[in-house]
Amino acid sequence: MTSRKTRLAALAGLLAVVATACGDSSQPQNTFDPRGPEARQLDDLINPVFWVAGVIFVLVNVLIVVAVVKFRRRSDDDAPKQVHGNAKLELGWTIAPAVILAVIGVFTLGTIADISAEPPDDALKVRVIGHQWWWEYRYEDDTVVTANELHIPVGRVVSIDLEAADVVHSFWPPKLSGKVDAIPGRTNHMTVEADEPGIYYGQCAEFCGFSHANMLLRVVAHEPADFDRWYSANRARPADVSTLTGDAAAGAGLFRTKGCASCHVIEGFSAGEFGPNLTHLQQRDSFAGAMFELNDRNLRRWLRDPPGEKPGSLMPNLDLTEDEITKLIAYLNTLK
Ligand code: CUA
Repeated sequence: MTSRKTRLAALAGLLAVVATACGDSSQPQNTFDPRGPEARQLDDLINPVFWVAGVIFVLVNVLIVVAVVKFRRRSDDDAPKQVHGNAKLELGWTIAPAVILAVIGVFTLGTIADISAEPPDDALKVRVIGHQWWWEYRYEDDTVVTANELHIPVGRVVSIDLEAADVVHSFWPPKLSGKVDAIPGRTNHMTVEADEPGIYYGQCAEFCGFSHANMLLRVVAHEPADFDRWYSANRARPADVSTLTGDAAAGAGLFRTKGCASCHVIEGFSAGEFGPNLTHLQQRDSFAGAMFELNDRNLRRWLRDPPGEKPGSLMPNLDLTEDEITKLIAYLNTLK
């Protein structure tokens, strides 16, 4: 008996932990803690559907227990009374669920129409492109190009055209919106809006290969004036490489000779393909699919062996020496 009680207590404890994990608003990716209109519309649909389904779940289980207890076999020659259909009962249990599903369907279709409505004319337009395994953001006809951290102004609708460069990905910042798939060869649309400044964490939500779980993202919401400052900084022409000296100048040379330049764009310096645009790298807090905080220590570990830090990374191990890495980091630190 004691061990049964212990097991019950353990189960109750586990359920309590699971329940807290779902409802705790301090969780960075709590989908039940909406912080923008799109997420709130979804939450407003999930909540009533959850309660309707919950009441039905309890009702069905209570009826099962009552039937099992009340109509149990009481002796060896006890046989159930044979009955033929009951029209009232059968109509009832057909019509009632149909009505409930129809009501849920009406609200669901309404929500779908709301969240897929045309964005307003003053919406901020961003192309979001999923790559193995990072996110590319191209603002307003490519005037600003960045990666992994989507910066937005609060209180303004952001209209996203969602694409994929290789395989299917799914863009999902849970506190701001639902999941929308990024599919090669087609453009999907979604809108995102944040009520308050802050960092909203998210991730790729569609299995896309080896480092799917490392394909993270952040939406950074700013007050409009702060957003304008961020935008100007990312729009500015970077400093001319010829003005660099010392390790930074040597690092810029290595960036070309070691092949970095064939994958990464740095405005006015390299025109690579495939990899994240590094023109204003230092405006970011993270790198490699928002997997690592951007600092010299993490950059060093990364440059020593990218696939070792992030399984499947398409950036290869370039067998750089510690001295080369020091110079490359000195150069990367100039990309303000
Ligand atoms: Cu991209 Cu999973």
